[in-house]
Amino acid sequence: RTIDDLGDLTGQKVLLRSDLNVPLDDEGAITDDGRVRASVPTIKVLTERGARVIVCAHLGRPKGEPDPKYSLKPVAERLGELLGSPVAFAQDTVGDSAKAVVDSLENGQVALLENLRFNAGETGKTPQDRAEFADQLASLADVFVSDGFGVVHREQASVYDVAERLPQAAGGLVLTEVQVLEQLTKPRRPYAVVLGGAKVSDKLGVIENLLKEADLLLIGGGMAFTFLKAQGYEVGKSLLEEDQVATVKGYLAEAENHGVDIVLPVDVVAATEFSADADHEVVPVDAIPADRMGLDIGPDSAQLFAEKVTTAKTTFWNGPMGAFEMAPYADGTKVLAQALVDATKAGAVTVVGGGDSAAAVRALGFADDDFTHISTGGGASLEYLEGKTLPGLAVLED
Ligand code: 3PG
Repeated sequence: RTIDDLGDLTGQKVLLRSDLNVPLDDEGAITDDGRVRASVPTIKVLTERGARVIVCAHLGRPKGEPDPKYSLKPVAERLGELLGSPVAFAQDTVGDSAKAVVDSLENGQVALLENLRFNAGETGKTPQDRAEFADQLASLADVFVSDGFGVVHREQASVYDVAERLPQAAGGLVLTEVQVLEQLTKPRRPYAVVLGGAKVSDKLGVIENLLKEADLLLIGGGMAFTFLKAQGYEVGKSLLEEDQVATVKGYLAEAENHGVDIVLPVDVVAATEFSADADHEVVPVDAIPADRMGLDIGPDSAQLFAEKVTTAKTTFWNGPMGAFEMAPYADGTKVLAQALVDATKAGAVTVVGGGDSAAAVRALGFADDDFTHISTGGGASLEYLEGKTLPGLAVLED
């Protein structure tokens, strides 16, 4: 069901679950507002139809009680700027004060509730643990619209349980994300997948699935060192998940059986410590000094990855190639992003998934429309590609 199926929304109170989980700096300023921007079109559709929009979202992982560090207040301000009209901010997520803010809304106005995860019921393990909170949330509104694609893999009160309590529909962002990711399950070939980021263990499920789907699998970032170790290289002080080496060896063998081309770095930028000022040098992967850690793929690897991506008709990319937030280790991610931009211009489908990779490409100066799509989902897009059932989508289909 889409918003069109909800009928006349004039004067209706719409509870809208968005994913506004944005990175903040030490002063609490938003460093990448991509998810806030992505939430705007659906909010506008609702306000233009005369709805009273109650946006709810989480920020970070507070422990089920209020924690000022994770307040959504700065996000309410940014959202107001992007919408061109102020967003009322409810200091509490539910209860009398939240209800008062909701009651003060006129048709076409927007309020944002405080961080859902200030309430333990949001992330309760069982439906019973979440019931009271879900009831309170649902009592604020007449209908529910689910538009937080980045959270549809979470069985949480505001994603799952409220959808069972109110008439509901999927918002435009959820629909777009699903359409794009669906294309990746029937990709134009060759299909390349580039994975980076720190940990292999976060991506085991998706790697297993991609070994059946992808033609090329390019591995960079911290997780590459576990692959290099599995191939017999010494990786010095680089990130290494010893307990995953055997699993990765299995992947390498399986890739060979399936004819999947696994591409690993051939050189790395090796530094004495995890710092922008650390002494660093480019070394081939068979000569990583014992006292250094690889913090980026090297220039030859970046060139190799760029060439491989250029041959693909479809590319999905999740996870930076190095510690891109420090200038000396940003080049691998930059060269790869540029190769994807060129591939997009040449007609390939390119999808960037994941909070970190999205933040990386924006921080490095690329624009959202340089790629076919920048997904707002990190874990959600990976689980979708893994072929898992996502509770927040399943509940909308029921
Ligand atoms: C994300 O950042 O991927 C989503 O907002 C989900 O956040 P979570 O992993 O804390 O549930």
